[in-house]
Amino acid sequence: MAPSPLRFETLRGDGLQPWLAQLARLRIAVFRDWPYLYEGDEAYERRYMASYAAGQGAAVIACFDGDTAVGAATCEPMAETHASVRDSFTAAGLDPAEYCYFGESVLLAPYRGRGAGVEFFRRREAHAASLGLARTTFCAVARDPADPRKPADYTPLDGFWRKRGYEPLDGVSCRFSWKGPGEAAEQEHRLDFWHKALA
Ligand SMILES: CC(C)(COP(=O)(O)OP(=O)(O)OC[C@H]1O[C@@H](n2cnc3c(N)ncnc32)[C@H](O)[C@@H]1OP(=O)(O)O)[C@@H](O)C(=O)NCCC(=O)NCCS
Repeated sequence: MAPSPLRFETLRGDGLQPWLAQLARLRIAVFRDWPYLYEGDEAYERRYMASYAAGQGAAVIACFDGDTAVGAATCEPMAETHASVRDSFTAAGLDPAEYCYFGESVLLAPYRGRGAGVEFFRRREAHAASLGLARTTFCAVARDPADPRKPADYTPLDGFWRKRGYEPLDGVSCRFSWKGPGEAAEQEHRLDFWHKALA
């Protein structure tokens, strides 16, 4: 039987409210795995997703199988995002006001390889353009390729991102701390930025 078609919606403001709990659970499920290894807390994740509903320029691209959210990607003007992200750009001599920041893309594993990731980029770039922002950026966790926790069948997303026109923004990184599954305390992680100038 052919898989059911995936449906996409670009959600903003109050349109996000009914989906906050599902989107919070999606982040927890996907980021628990390599390469993020993040032990998410549902109350925190709901507040985090609610910040996108409150954000003036924010949008969340949700991917649905029927009425169930199975993936999501977020974006907002960098001027509206976490200070630690903005500060890493300012420190590198870049102007955060020029950028749309893509916070995350998460898709449940059974739905991968069907074009949702491509659609997430297409819709977020369209949203950036609608805000008059000509540059887009995101960051990804830096991991030791020899880390024994890396699954043998893991394919890095670098090739996927390059194909979408993204390049590493050399030397620009930020740091976030989080607790991994089963870890007693938070550890600091480096996340490296990628960027693209929209045509
Ligand atoms: C990032 C992520 C959302 C990508 O999702 P995805 O839906 O598997 O990505 P896509 O299917 O769009 O693209 C993957 C490849 O499949 C191809 N593809 C397969 N079927 C396709 C279809 N029907 N239509 C279009 N493309 C298709 C794409 O072209 C792409 O190949 P390419 O890179 O050679 O162009 C997903 O891998 C994920 O959730 N990863 C874990 C979390 C993570 O690391 N997120 C990123 C940092 S926050």
